[in-house]
Amino acid sequence: MHDLFVASAPGKVILCGEHAVVYGQMAIALPVSAVAAYATVRAGDRRGLVVEAADLGEVWRVDERPEHPLATVWSALRVRLPVGPPPALHVSLRSTIPIAGGMGSGAAISAAFVRALAGYLGLALDPADVSGMVYEAERQYHGTPSGIDNTVVSFGRPIVYRRHGEGAVPLMEPLALPGVLRLVIGDTGVRAPTRVTVAAVRERWQTSRQHFDALFTWIGEAVEGVRAALRADDLRRAGRLLDENQRLLQEVGVSSPELERLITAARRAGALGAKLSGGGGGGIMLALVEPTGAGMVERALRSAGAVRVIVTDVTAGPGESIVV
Ligand code: PMV
Repeated sequence: MHDLFVASAPGKVILCGEHAVVYGQMAIALPVSAVAAYATVRAGDRRGLVVEAADLGEVWRVDERPEHPLATVWSALRVRLPVGPPPALHVSLRSTIPIAGGMGSGAAISAAFVRALAGYLGLALDPADVSGMVYEAERQYHGTPSGIDNTVVSFGRPIVYRRHGEGAVPLMEPLALPGVLRLVIGDTGVRAPTRVTVAAVRERWQTSRQHFDALFTWIGEAVEGVRAALRADDLRRAGRLLDENQRLLQEVGVSSPELERLITAARRAGALGAKLSGGGGGGIMLALVEPTGAGMVERALRSAGAVRVIVTDVTAGPGESIVV
């Protein structure tokens, strides 16, 4: 056993394909390593597992909150430990990932938590193990999570995914990325729960199916195009297709004045492409920039009212395959 064990997990963003992915189209999600959740494990003072959520100023015992996602993760880990009373453990959690911003904060906290505990207790877990346990926790919390957040934060790699049925775990594969993607992410500060925008889109789709099916197909084509452009390291083309994806998302009705303001500011400051990311209606947007262009876009987003700006680089990451 170590004296102390620290582990982390990155945030995530959806690069393109949101909403259309609910209707069977392909989407791309990326890890955001500029923000992360961290867990530090050390010996506790009394039996059982104590969690200290440093950012929230909360300290609680896992067995007092069996409904909590971290209790689910802990149960999944415990079945892999030698039989016997659990050791006295203290886990301290910290995160720089915006909460409820579609950036995978909950999944990243669960992933860092389980990795740190496993590391402290000398248990080897591979990313697929971590992802599976985090998925269970997300399911407990959200009902039917898409499986994206747990996969991206556990593997720390860009993925392409497509759903094949309501509630089913989607088909996922690593995204080929020969170069580095530099993204600037801007937060509008407007909270818009994803389930609300997803439900609103469903209502509109029900009253105008043909039109919406066509929009989703075109979004799917834009995503295919982004994937091919990235594979060819053609960032300009990828940027134009992200703009096209945004135009289609406007038609789907999930943009907002605050998002448009940030997206326009990013483009004017030289972004290769910019769009909303995730559920929309508020929340975050992202801009793809030239490696030297991030500073200009960052400043432009701040003056256009972004409450938080994150600059991050995305690479293909280690070569292991993604198993779900
Ligand atoms: O903001 P997020 O990461 O929860 O993304 C939502 C993506 C949607 O396509 C709008 C919904 C979904 O479940 O895929």
